[in-house]
Amino acid sequence: MSEKEPVPPLSGQVALVTGANRGIGWSIGVALLEAGLRVYFGCRKDADPLRQKIRSLPGGDRGETVVLDMNDPASIEGAIDSVLHRSGRVDILVNNAGIVRDRLLVRMDEKEFREVIDVNLVGPFRMVKAVLRPMMKQRYGRIVSISSVVGATGNAGQANYAASKGGLEAFSKSVALEVASRGITVNVVAPGFIETDMTSGLPENVTNGVLERIPAGRFGRGEEIAHAVRFLVDPAAGYITGAVIPVNGGLHMP
Ligand code: NAI
Repeated sequence: MSEKEPVPPLSGQVALVTGANRGIGWSIGVALLEAGLRVYFGCRKDADPLRQKIRSLPGGDRGETVVLDMNDPASIEGAIDSVLHRSGRVDILVNNAGIVRDRLLVRMDEKEFREVIDVNLVGPFRMVKAVLRPMMKQRYGRIVSISSVVGATGNAGQANYAASKGGLEAFSKSVALEVASRGITVNVVAPGFIETDMTSGLPENVTNGVLERIPAGRFGRGEEIAHAVRFLVDPAAGYITGAVIPVNGGLHMP
């Protein structure tokens, strides 16, 4: 930690969450606002409706929006520049944005494979590269990426998605090793099945089959993922790095 630039308390820090207009990303943004941070809610396009939604929250005056498309390197650079310009620092990055394109491998084309890898793995690579420089200068940073239980277990119909999430975990561990001496931690939260738009479209027989396998007997909530993220971004969590924290109701115990 540099003597010139002391790390502000959590309530004075700046966080950026990708894909934060809904679902798990929204819950993470809200939890960080509740913790007193200035939070940039990343959204893929048109930030106006999101801005209105944030303003109505307690602490919403500390909520900002930033347009950021994981498929577009220029938009990622622009988003980080905008955060640095507006707030002077970036302490926390949460790589949450993600997509699925489920199909059995025999029917999956290369486009569907690449689309998922691009958003879920190349996107976080771009994001982490973009924040590392300011974080290294600050000699402080917290990076958390949202993977999935299937990154460890695999899942039929999700070869693309599972590969992207397993890759994200290995990527995070590698970066954690590279920056551990700079006061920057890099960790992963691996959710099980969480109630969001991503899972609401599952057919009833699939949902029931999944529920039978979850020891907790229910899907998780976005706030329960946010809680794990909130724990990892705390300044007191500085000795936890390269970890993959499962939040899955007991579905898989690595
Ligand atoms: P969601 O579909 O509700 O939200 C995904 C978010 O990513 C949206 O805000 C969307 O706009 C954003 N996004 C998609 N493509 C983007 C792009 N090219 N650029 C920028 N943003 C983009 O899904 P949910 O459930 O909230 O998922 C959030 C994360 O949690 C994802 O990484 C997902 O893989 C992961 N996850 C979700 C689980 C679940 O059961 N819902 C389980 C395990 C992991």
